[in-house]
Amino acid sequence: MSSSGKVAIITGGAKGIGLACAIRLANDGAKIIIADIEEEEGKQVCADLVEQGHDAKFIQCDVGKKLDVRNMVAAAVDQYGRIDILVNNAGIIAGGDFLEISEKDFDRVIKVNLKGAFLVGQAVARQMVKQLEEDENGEHEAGVIINMSSVNAVLAIPTQVPYTVSKGGVNQLTKVMALSLAPHGIRVNAVGPGSIMTDILKAVANDKAANNRIMSRTPMGRIGDVSEIASIVAFLASKDASYITGQTIYADGGRMPLNYTVPVE
Ligand SMILES: NC(=O)c1ccc[n+]([C@@H]2O[C@H](COP(=O)([O-])OP(=O)(O)OC[C@H]3O[C@@H](n4cnc5c(N)ncnc54)[C@H](O)[C@@H]3O)[C@@H](O)[C@H]2O)c1
Repeated sequence: MSSSGKVAIITGGAKGIGLACAIRLANDGAKIIIADIEEEEGKQVCADLVEQGHDAKFIQCDVGKKLDVRNMVAAAVDQYGRIDILVNNAGIIAGGDFLEISEKDFDRVIKVNLKGAFLVGQAVARQMVKQLEEDENGEHEAGVIINMSSVNAVLAIPTQVPYTVSKGGVNQLTKVMALSLAPHGIRVNAVGPGSIMTDILKAVANDKAANNRIMSRTPMGRIGDVSEIASIVAFLASKDASYITGQTIYADGGRMPLNYTVPVE
């Protein structure tokens, strides 16, 4: 698998799963744009990548803001001349029961997780189509887009209302984008992680009852590592996945097929 010489944008790449994707794609030879709201962490991550001999640049961007997205895509093209890979990864959560959750929290999550994925996806896809139209000699491959979904696109948690709804939307967005962009040869897929060890989950992992709840839904009996999501992203971004589009690939330790409760000690 190689993304050698490709230009990859990773939204929410300053930490967690996005950072793992950035590191993996950089190791596969891609030039990296980290688009995140967190300036300090994003710049540090890029400095670390550059120190290791990679090409990386941070662009501050709130994916829920159209102007930010437009400026980020323009800056990425200014920097590297083109965009080959988009990892539409930025995401947030807001807990709360359905009867209690506020409109503000609902809007906030949908704006980042779903509208953000749409805004960045559309802006990058337009650039990818433009590149193909300008590439008269067929020197470059068509672009690839990977949306970060979740098992919660399909499985519901009553205290994660907007998150669950947003990820259901991401799966459908993935299909719509795949169908729209297939005539251009641009592939669009999603990855649906189960429970992966990032900052969000570290708090839960230290709480025995919460940890047991997760394990009772995880046949493989362990939380996933960010690298196990990044490797799927790398595969989907590569030529090895050249006939896959419109799919969501779940990496969840067996949660999706589960129809019983795993005994936990
Ligand atoms: N960790 C898990 O168990 C898990 C499971 C399923 C899906 N996911 C999905 O994976 C993605 C990454 O999650 P994570 O666990 O790495 O989270 P994280 O909180 O560790 O990282 C999220 C990153 O997104 C950035 N971000 C937040 N809002 C943004 C915005 N408006 N614009 C740009 N960047 C923004 C943050 O600054 C941060 O760098 C999310 O879409 C999440 O829903 C995570």
